[in-house]
Amino acid sequence: MTQTIAAFRYYDCHPAPADLHAEVIRGLSREPRGIPPKFFYDEAGSRLFDAICATPEYYPARVETGIIRRNLLEIVACVGSGSLLIEPGSGDCRKVRELLAAIRPRAYVPVDISGAWLRQAARRLAEEFPWLDIHAVCADFTAPLDLPCRADGARRVAFFPGSSIGNFDPGQAVGFLSHLAAMVRQGGGLLIGVDLKKDAAVLNAAYNDVQGLTAAFNRNLLVRINRDLAANFEVRRFSHRAFYNEAEGRIEMHLVSETRQRVLIGGRCFDFEPGEGIHTENSYKYTVAQFQELAEQAGFEPVRVWTDADGLFSVHYLEARGNV
Ligand code: AVI
Repeated sequence: MTQTIAAFRYYDCHPAPADLHAEVIRGLSREPRGIPPKFFYDEAGSRLFDAICATPEYYPARVETGIIRRNLLEIVACVGSGSLLIEPGSGDCRKVRELLAAIRPRAYVPVDISGAWLRQAARRLAEEFPWLDIHAVCADFTAPLDLPCRADGARRVAFFPGSSIGNFDPGQAVGFLSHLAAMVRQGGGLLIGVDLKKDAAVLNAAYNDVQGLTAAFNRNLLVRINRDLAANFEVRRFSHRAFYNEAEGRIEMHLVSETRQRVLIGGRCFDFEPGEGIHTENSYKYTVAQFQELAEQAGFEPVRVWTDADGLFSVHYLEARGNV
């Protein structure tokens, strides 16, 4: 029996790994205390996030998939079949599958900071799409990136789904989108999912699911810090708090200490009073016009936007102006 080894090209840009210890100590030493949300996604955190996406309350993943499916023909027309499709933060490359089949791009470029995950995801994808030219790039997608792979002449289109843009503060979001505009070059495109402003009750429910999966996802940050930094957070004595901050237009997630407690992390000690919290995530929500304005500041021109009938979520297609 012959065995087919799935082929893809792999480029290692040697990204500096995130320094959990330094960022946790820095975040807990300042006022108000905070830890960056990128540290949610260890193995357990990634599994919990997948489970959150399947809850009835957390609509973004489901609604975005529906919007893309319903408008696939128009999306294919915007992206174009001869393009180089680039996915920053590609993870397990799950969301891109339907697009790849419909678009049949000249090449697909998943970009991720985790080399092990990237290789695994690229190998699976190469088995599933043997006709697809895959150039997997191990790099920090939040920084400016000069793509190491060449597909000269191909139009570049970036795909950034899931409203992950909402986890950047608006200023950082403009910076990140500017890097994408530079990467896709003048005339290149961006297909991006953006969660919309809506009734606060719908948002509050989405981040406080009744099964408690979002609470477990939030608390898992402390489980991870205990394990990776030999810390001693009493995880059960921190409660999950998520609410929509209307003035800032964002969901905020916090971990709130229920009692007075002292936490030790690598020889440093941090005291918590009852009710004192750690800010763990912001998830910004935009109107269509607000997001288009943000994207324009970053050098993109709005071309098309698709939403669902309930106005929960939006998928934008934008084109890089190239003169910013
Ligand atoms: C990954 N990101 C877009 C999610 C969000 O909605 O901001 C992360 C998440 N946090 C709690 N639930 C989901």
